[in-house]
Amino acid sequence: LPAHIAIIMDGNGRWAKQRNYPRIMGHKAGVDPVRTVVETCAQLGLEALTLYAFSVENWKRPRHEIEGLWRLLRFYLRRELPNLMRNDIQLVAIGRIESLPAPVQAELQMVMDKTAQNRGMRLNLAINYGGRTELVDAVNAMLDNARLEGNLDALEITEEGITEHLYTSG
Ligand code: FPP
Repeated sequence: LPAHIAIIMDGNGRWAKQRNYPRIMGHKAGVDPVRTVVETCAQLGLEALTLYAFSVENWKRPRHEIEGLWRLLRFYLRRELPNLMRNDIQLVAIGRIESLPAPVQAELQMVMDKTAQNRGMRLNLAINYGGRTELVDAVNAMLDNARLEGNLDALEITEEGITEHLYTSG
């Protein structure tokens, strides 16, 4: 078995279009398979599963679609918490979480806190995530630390340093 599987959530819009449904119906239909995949991966003993749910580019979508996605995410988090606990899954949100609507942040934080002691599979939810954004955030965190410690002149950007400052560090 691989240690880590990452899934790009995709095709929800096309699924809805084929059926002449609004796009949000496709997103809604995508939630139940997520539950099955998460539970199955945890039971198979995977170390980590990453779900790419919302990229930094997704802000370009219509406002009502984005609002529907936040509603669905909050619904998913609330409904899945008992399932995550039962399966010993630790949920971690990765991405620029601080830019999400406050109620979404609060719900994510609540589930992260409640599952923090779980020792089974780690479920990374990539939300407001971008590969380049993650690197920018890592380098800025290194700069901030160096400034705080007063050794900006000596700062060297290394692979190890970047690894330590990625959203998944540790
Ligand atoms: C991709 O389909 C899917 C998304 C951008 C959103 C997925 C997120 C949720 C359903 C929110 C709930 C989150 C979880 C983890 C349950 P698309 O619209 O890009 O489809 P297309 O490729 O057919 O256009």
